[in-house]
Amino acid sequence: MAELTKVASVEQVAPGQGKICEVGDHQVALFNVAGKIVACNNVCPHRGGPLGEGDLAGTIVTCPWHGWQFDVVTGVSPVNPAAKIATYPVTILGQDVLVEI
Ligand code: FES
Repeated sequence: MAELTKVASVEQVAPGQGKICEVGDHQVALFNVAGKIVACNNVCPHRGGPLGEGDLAGTIVTCPWHGWQFDVVTGVSPVNPAAKIATYPVTILGQDVLVEI
């Protein structure tokens, strides 16, 4: 059953930046896309690179290991639509960032 978990404070996720956090066994990457915080799987489906450490341009993150790209809002790769990462609902409560996994 999905559960809301506090993973960060709003000020810890700077615009255009990523932040990696853990929810149980899941590694989650938070991104601040023009002021809106979104969450997706941190683990790149290519070889497990940390997407939360990748460069963000608009909604597209580039994996720091070999350059695969994903839209952090939809989870879909703009290059290969068959490649997809999980995205998770985010709730902001005051200054708290909560993710539903
Ligand atoms: S591990 Fe992400 S592109 Fe290879």
